[in-house]
Amino acid sequence: MASQRCILFLSLVVAIVLFYTSWYPCSFHDHDYESSLKKAYTRCMETVKDFMFQDSIVIADDVALRATKTFDVDSYGAKGDGKKDDTKAFKKAWKEACSSTKAAVFSVPKNKKYLVTPIKFKGPCKASLTMQISGTILASTKESKYKKDERHWLRVDGVDNLQIEGGGVIDGNGAVWWKKSCKVDKDRALTLYKCTTLVVNDLTVQNAQQIHVSFERCDHVQASNIRVTAPGDSPNTDGIHVTRTQNIKISDSIIGTGDDCISIVNGSKNVQATGITCGPGHGISIGSLGSDNEEAHVSDVRVDGAYLTGTTNGVRIKTWQGGSGDASNITFQNINMKNVTNPIIIDQEYCDQDGPCKEQDSAVEIKNVVYKNITGTSADEDAVIFKCSEKHPCQGVVLQEINITQEGGDDAKAVCNNVKLTYIGTVNPRCPKNIVQINEHFKHMVTVE
Ligand SMILES: *[C@@H]1O[C@H](CO)[C@@H](O)[C@H](O)[C@H]1NC(C)=O
Ligand SMILES: *[C@@H]1O[C@H](CO)[C@@H](O)[C@H](O)[C@H]1NC(C)=O
Ligand SMILES: *[C@@H]1O[C@H](CO)[C@@H](O)[C@H](O)[C@H]1NC(C)=O
Ligand SMILES: *[C@@H]1O[C@H](CO)[C@@H](O)[C@H](O)[C@H]1NC(C)=O
Ligand SMILES: *[C@@H]1O[C@H](CO)[C@@H](O)[C@H](O)[C@H]1NC(C)=O
Repeated sequence: MASQRCILFLSLVVAIVLFYTSWYPCSFHDHDYESSLKKAYTRCMETVKDFMFQDSIVIADDVALRATKTFDVDSYGAKGDGKKDDTKAFKKAWKEACSSTKAAVFSVPKNKKYLVTPIKFKGPCKASLTMQISGTILASTKESKYKKDERHWLRVDGVDNLQIEGGGVIDGNGAVWWKKSCKVDKDRALTLYKCTTLVVNDLTVQNAQQIHVSFERCDHVQASNIRVTAPGDSPNTDGIHVTRTQNIKISDSIIGTGDDCISIVNGSKNVQATGITCGPGHGISIGSLGSDNEEAHVSDVRVDGAYLTGTTNGVRIKTWQGGSGDASNITFQNINMKNVTNPIIIDQEYCDQDGPCKEQDSAVEIKNVVYKNITGTSADEDAVIFKCSEKHPCQGVVLQEINITQEGGDDAKAVCNNVKLTYIGTVNPRCPKNIVQINEHFKHMVTVE
């Protein structure tokens, strides 16, 4: 019986191969071909559990579908002793991995520490690529090496179908930078620039110069099991930064730094964050947007499932006066906070500069923001702050099932300026009731300030 099924399976494989080669004679590595073959194979394996040649089929599967070539930095002369500069070996290994016609693995072996100066991992590459980072990559502090491009240390540029994994550590050696930190043009430890179809899984990034991981102009990104750590007083050390990036999901990650846990800025759309543990730091932020009168657009952001502890903000939207554009369709839900200074905050008068910001008429508009099932404690009396613009009030803000008390147990308060707000279910704290209407149709309270 089993061998009959085996013959059936092999005939199926032959049939598929013939079918596809007749249609695509030159593209034997076509993805559809691989996936349908794999599907047929998986289906067959499911029905033939006791298949006697299972092992040999699995090996055949590996050879046929996942043939890879490994480019180990050690084979290119890297020492991995944490002292010798291994930059050259990394560059050589990358160059060959990227020009490999077979799927390539750029490998940084475990239990070793590789000291490197700035490196650009430039694409496009010929085949799909995996960066297997199992050891530690440590930033050199040799200042002269950063002169050419002060903003980037490890920069992956224009690589599609990239997978970064391996459980290793990327260490920005940031203490030297923190002492002379400057707010403009933040330095990044790991930059993923213009990457399409990117998977980052199981990686520790620590003590970055400033921003730890930055996704810039990427599309279709999955980032999971990322651990980011830096001291709570290290300046501008955002955890994960998302800019001009679409269709990104960040999941199951633990972030504690001296700045935003996750910051989502201009040009980002369809951003999901789930299973995020955050603290210390400044919380999960959309913005800042609209500095220097710029136009900004952020939409379809969903933070679903987060635990924040001891952060200065919980979930925040911050925009400067004088900008334009919008931040819209944003949901923050299923979030628990402990001793967070500003658990829920929209600040349309954000001003992070020396001296006051002048009052301006235009603003980045804020529309359709839902806060749902957010509980916990606030370090400050004001747990909910809506500081919206008079000329461009925040619209479509919903508070649903909110319960935030002060850390000591006292009731918390809400501060609400220029916000069009709807309550659903039990909401605590609520805005002071100066103008309250009952919306009969929706059977819940509507506050218009
Ligand atoms: C904001 O993002 C959009 C879309 O990605 C881009 O065209 C625009 O130049 C960005 N604006 C600024 C000031 O960076
Ligand atoms: C926000 O959602 C609404 C309703 O689903 C939709 O009509 C609108 O186009 C969305 N806005 C953006 C900027 O995606
Ligand atoms: C509310 O959020 C918490 C996490 O803070 C979650 O454990 C709980 O299941 C959520 N409740 C509902 C009804 O979704
Ligand atoms: C709560 O946070 C405040 C301010 O960040 C801090 O001073 C206080 O010690 C914290 N309390 C607890 C119980 O952690
Ligand atoms: C709100 O939270 C407090 C403290 O965490 C708790 O004692 C109280 O029962 C909660 N209220 C509701 C309505 O869930």
